[in-house]
Amino acid sequence: MDKIIVKGGQTKLQGEVEIEGAKNAVLPLLAATLLASKGEVVLTNVPILSDVFMMNNLVDHLGTSISFDQEAKKIIAKANSEIKTTAPYEYVSKMRASIVVMGPILARNGQARVSMPGGCSIGSRPIDLHLRGFEQMGATITQNAGYIEAKADKLKGAHIYLDFPSVGATQNLILAATLAEGVTTLENAAREPEIVDLANLLNKMGANVKGAGTDTIIIKGVEKMHGAKHSVVQDRIEAGTFMVAAAMTQGDVLIKDAIAEHNRPLISKLSEMGVNFTQEETGLRVVGPEKLKATSVKTLPHPGFPTDMQSQMAAAQAIAAGESVMVETVFENRFKHLEEMRRMGLEVDITRNTALIQGNSNLQGAAVKSTDLRASAALILLGLVAKGQTTVRRLSHLDRGYYKFHEKLKALGADIVRVKDEDGEE
Ligand code: UD1
Repeated sequence: MDKIIVKGGQTKLQGEVEIEGAKNAVLPLLAATLLASKGEVVLTNVPILSDVFMMNNLVDHLGTSISFDQEAKKIIAKANSEIKTTAPYEYVSKMRASIVVMGPILARNGQARVSMPGGCSIGSRPIDLHLRGFEQMGATITQNAGYIEAKADKLKGAHIYLDFPSVGATQNLILAATLAEGVTTLENAAREPEIVDLANLLNKMGANVKGAGTDTIIIKGVEKMHGAKHSVVQDRIEAGTFMVAAAMTQGDVLIKDAIAEHNRPLISKLSEMGVNFTQEETGLRVVGPEKLKATSVKTLPHPGFPTDMQSQMAAAQAIAAGESVMVETVFENRFKHLEEMRRMGLEVDITRNTALIQGNSNLQGAAVKSTDLRASAALILLGLVAKGQTTVRRLSHLDRGYYKFHEKLKALGADIVRVKDEDGEE
């Protein structure tokens, strides 16, 4: 595997950066293509990421033929009159998001058999809300030899209240409900922009989904679904990561076509820390101050502060003036990056889901390992400002969610290279 080497301390990022389509949008969109029984679903603005390749393989295996034109960032998903019922271990085990194929398979076949999913090691991440929702729609759920099996002669619309606005459960239940008999109402649904993007594609495919983006989503079941064309929404987390990068380096960066609306909580917190934002015709300009101010952040479901920006924000807090607080309420065990940051001189006091971060303008580069997808970006950001050299390993995490991250940073002026890791570590 490769490693990234950053030489930090001097860089002031400057220039423009283009943002890809959202990983967290395109994965459920690909699952949605399984619902069409005829025609082609054409997705554009598709990010080139290892998670997308994995989902492509799974959907293709299940019966919807996938062709990915990487140069055009376009996927053509050709529907099949029949799809398979089993999502096998070798396709599902590496990526938790693959559980969203369960809804479409169940809706089309009346039964689904899906291997227990894997993914980032950030807490236990159960799927009870997905399964309880399927049960309320008339499915019987069993677990057998590492597989979850769901059976229902015909899924029926239901009134489902989610204990927690889970993104994955909301997506899976919308997907299942599109072809169910009658009306499904999801209460306390997730409101993320990626849910809205999913509903937009589904409606183009002939579904009837209303209320996406609010906490009550109403889905009227339809008989059949067909092909459609759709451009994937911009990746607000990638955009947010570059906002933090500019903020931390006294940078001046234009995030091209940024959708500020999708990043309100982050923009609000960074503004509080002294960062300047200007909406321009071609994007959002982010100008970092000489010294960031400390701040308190608590992650929450959308429209609260996103957990997927927690580690990058912690990197900014690590160099701010004074003590900052980070409270993680969405996932347990999502502070492993702080342990790695300690290797760079960070002083942090962690009690359960709360971290007290002492800002330090004298952090030193060190050898660190990515502990999950967003942590990998956060460690690279801290490497930009720490004195000397930082080496970041375990880049398989980074490649799941960031396309050419080091090249984009280099184009903005960072001293960064990605090289083969001769030590042979993953
Ligand atoms: C999605 C995102 C991920 C993001 C997360 C929260 C994708 C592919 N991934 O993950 O990047 O960090 O939303 O914004 O879109 N939970 C349960 N039972 C369930 C489902 C979830 O208890 O049945 C809990 C989880 O353990 C976690 C919390 O709810 O503590 C949030 O999970 P969820 O919103 O489902 O996240 P994902 O869909 O897995």
